[in-house]
Amino acid sequence: MSQVYIRDFGAHVGKVVVLKGWLYSRRSKGKLHFLLLRDGTGIVQSVVMKGEVADELFDVAGRIGQESSVIVTGVVREDARAPGGYELGLQDLQVLQDVKDYPIAHQEHGPDFLMTHRHLWLRSKKQAAVMRIRSRVVRAIRDYFDDRDFTLMDAPIFTPNACEGTSTLFEVNYFDEAKAYLTQSGQLYGEAAAMALGKIYVFGPVFRAEKSKTRRHLTEFWMVEPEVAYATLADVMNLAEGLVCSVVAEVLKHHRKDLADLERDVSKLECIKAPFPRITYDEAAALLQKLGTGFVYGNDLGAPDETALGEHFGMPVMVHSWPHEVKAFYMKRDAATGRFALGMDMIGPEGSGELAGGSQREDDLDVLLGRIKAHGLPEESFAWYLDLRRYGSVPHGGFGLGLERTVAWICGREHVRECIPFPRTLNRIYP
Ligand code: 4AD
Ligand code: MG
Repeated sequence: MSQVYIRDFGAHVGKVVVLKGWLYSRRSKGKLHFLLLRDGTGIVQSVVMKGEVADELFDVAGRIGQESSVIVTGVVREDARAPGGYELGLQDLQVLQDVKDYPIAHQEHGPDFLMTHRHLWLRSKKQAAVMRIRSRVVRAIRDYFDDRDFTLMDAPIFTPNACEGTSTLFEVNYFDEAKAYLTQSGQLYGEAAAMALGKIYVFGPVFRAEKSKTRRHLTEFWMVEPEVAYATLADVMNLAEGLVCSVVAEVLKHHRKDLADLERDVSKLECIKAPFPRITYDEAAALLQKLGTGFVYGNDLGAPDETALGEHFGMPVMVHSWPHEVKAFYMKRDAATGRFALGMDMIGPEGSGELAGGSQREDDLDVLLGRIKAHGLPEESFAWYLDLRRYGSVPHGGFGLGLERTVAWICGREHVRECIPFPRTLNRIYP
């Protein structure tokens, strides 16, 4: 008899198995205890009937507290009424630790209490489902790029320069000589890598000293950033669209149970198919006028604008060709007027906000140098980046997709802080 995970109970019907896990909750009714047991792969109900087991064992089963660690031996039974479709007829119960006063009861707790107990909250059914889906999203992202012959080229975390504006930089002392910053984006290094290997992706944590307390902002989050030599803005949009479709399809394929536990309306995900609508910034502005969000032409999209666009399309929508003033220094401008940055933001449906942002990059040395100066960025620390425009410069582009925002959308979670194991925000760095 060896350990069997709850996920695999279907293959062990009628057999005696050993479950190693924890007591999730208990309900008792006269001569019966219904123990909900969890082992990390799922939750199963175990029935303990007085008279069928030793009296002492029956008493123990009725006494141990929530999250007690247990090793249970029992027979797997198919039962349509049981949560998950299987039940464990308990024969033996070994208690490794009897827990008293587990802090998180199954009643409602406020978000602050739960976040302070994040190390324990992760054990709850919905949080575990979010983490499994996050893990799948990471895997689906890697598969998408690996299958298309992209090379994984990770960027450094300590950097000498800003990528996404100087207002959200975390500064650290770097020995005696210098200041360093925690990276805001691996993009600039990704560009160097694309010039070396053609198609690459960077995938790792990035940091933003965001002073905003919104439900979409973390100070530490994960981003995947593909970068492709010879790519245009249209190529960048095609790649982003394909990635998101593939990720959603993989989650739907493997995580129906988790999505059900999250009470996610999967019909909203099942309709996510290419092509996604693509509109210019000017078209978005006109639409927002009609939708009455109070949008002012020339500004970046605010949260209500993003929500309205997402609702209008019910699909991720790509807004491209932005007034260059609201976009980063590295974006190339349109050849005809020079007014628009060849950038795009992918806005997700259901209030999920901006899922990805990308662009074709400025590839002309003099223009780029002018931008760096105009943005007041320190030229010295960009010398290496300018070399990329000195030696074999080509059109190229890429984007960054925020992992937590993508997971929050797919899982139907209101706040991105539930979509990373241990979130860091403006006012939280514990646990
Ligand atoms: O739009 P952003 O700032 O783009 C870049 O950093 C580019 N350098 C990417 C590139 O072209 N390689 O960030 C990309 C995405 C956003 O669309 C959003 O999903 C996510 O990263 N993001 C955040 N997620 C959580 N918390 C924050 N504070 C975030 N800031 C951006
Ligand atoms: Mg952006």
